[in-house]
Amino acid sequence: MAARIRVALATGMIVFVCYLGWQQIPAPLPAQWSTAELALLHNLSLDSLPPLPADPGNAVADHPLARQMGQLLFFDTRLSANNEVSCATCHQPDKMFTDGRALAVGLSQADRNSMGLVGVAYSPWLFWDGRKDSLWSQALEPLENPLEHGSNRVQLARLVLTDPVYSEYYDALFGIDTGFLTSITDKNHIPAASPSGDAQLKANWDGLSPQDQHAVNIVFSNIGKTLAAWLRQLTHTPSVFDKYVSRLATGPSLVQENTLSKEQLAGLRLFIGKAQCVNCHNGPLFTNNSFHNTAVLSAPGIQPAAGRSQGLRLAQSDIFNCLGPYSDAKPSQCQELRFARGGDEMIGAQRTASLRNLAATAPYMHAGQITTLEDVINHYNRAQIAVIGHNEAKPLALRAVEKRQLRAFLDSLNGGVTTEADSM
Ligand code: HEC
Ligand code: HEC
Repeated sequence: MAARIRVALATGMIVFVCYLGWQQIPAPLPAQWSTAELALLHNLSLDSLPPLPADPGNAVADHPLARQMGQLLFFDTRLSANNEVSCATCHQPDKMFTDGRALAVGLSQADRNSMGLVGVAYSPWLFWDGRKDSLWSQALEPLENPLEHGSNRVQLARLVLTDPVYSEYYDALFGIDTGFLTSITDKNHIPAASPSGDAQLKANWDGLSPQDQHAVNIVFSNIGKTLAAWLRQLTHTPSVFDKYVSRLATGPSLVQENTLSKEQLAGLRLFIGKAQCVNCHNGPLFTNNSFHNTAVLSAPGIQPAAGRSQGLRLAQSDIFNCLGPYSDAKPSQCQELRFARGGDEMIGAQRTASLRNLAATAPYMHAGQITTLEDVINHYNRAQIAVIGHNEAKPLALRAVEKRQLRAFLDSLNGGVTTEADSM
């Protein structure tokens, strides 16, 4: 009898312990966030990404035909002087549109790290130093850059107006002026030319009539506008971090997936607290799209970059800017350009990079100066004196374990990319 009671008691204990164990399952939230922290986390997640901002300078920004033409152009090596370089040479889809190199290589080696293009439409300024104020205008620069595509605007205009596929798109989108088509097909009338090419190309450009220059510039800027229409819709898909934040909003569930590890949660706490990363890497793309000097050392053999102080001057004097003759915007729609802040305090300032998908975008910083994320964190922890301008960041005094936690958190920001073209 006593033995039976003992068995019953033991069974009861086991059931009770199992019950307790089961009770533990619905509480997978090791972190407790305050209301203010929850609001901040929500602000960092893709759920708060606003709709694509309008691009008033580009009348075809959301035109499906422009998107298709832009996609074809993006992968077309005929847009280069040697028929070997396309945009995708340096912006490879499987590397989140970067190239895995410290310094990009087209016709020759450039002096900057290639940038990831996903979510790029959300930035009012393009390039590390913000020397372009729109995506369409940005796309024109690599085409004529002698280190990248090394082509020239006449050659490019000729290609899109005469190629059987491009000319159809072009005519449908912008209309082809038959008089100009006749002139540009005649290489004696309009030879290869560009105001930003070598001496010969420049001389040829100066030899063109203002009307022909203007007509070439129109086609050239329209090429940029179709490329921008394609680039614009490259969007991030949710990462583990985004799923975690969505789950915080919907309440704990019994399923233990889509959560952050303890280490990552501690890293997230540091990211929005002691490590101060969120001061600049904020919003759903983990960038304030603004310019800061964080004393990134120059790469060997490369001049310290003047950064935004020079970038803004270039944007303001660019004929392809929002206020220029090739923009479709009204001057009142060019607020960013009219009211941007430049000056000496922007010396050495680069654009804050997004922290999404870092696994695919190494090496890091504007000239690929830092190879690993561990070293990026060491860089911020030290906050050395800037070689040019002033470092805005202060030393962080992170302990080794905290650096590991921060590093682990960055992994939770790796997601995918989606394009509307995928579903076309
Ligand atoms: C030789 C490599 C190379 C080629 C080819 C190239 N790019 Fe880039 N791209 C870069 C580099 C390097 C940067 C950063 C340059 C800088 O800031 O000075 C960049 C920056 C950009 C940016 C700015 C992103 C941002 O967040 O500001 C866009 C957009 C872009 N490229 C699109 C294109 C398009 C479109 C083409 C084709 C017409 C193209 N690129 C061709 C290397 C290349
Ligand atoms: C004062 C603003 C500021 C703060 C604070 C800041 N960053 Fe940055 N971050 C930047 C800027 C600007 C860049 C680009 C710098 C460059 O290339 O010269 C950058 C670049 C990076 C990159 C490289 C991304 C790439 O694709 O090249 C990583 C990673 C990064 N930051 C992580 C962090 C972490 C982690 C913290 C916190 C410890 C942090 N940042 C704090 C402004 C900041």
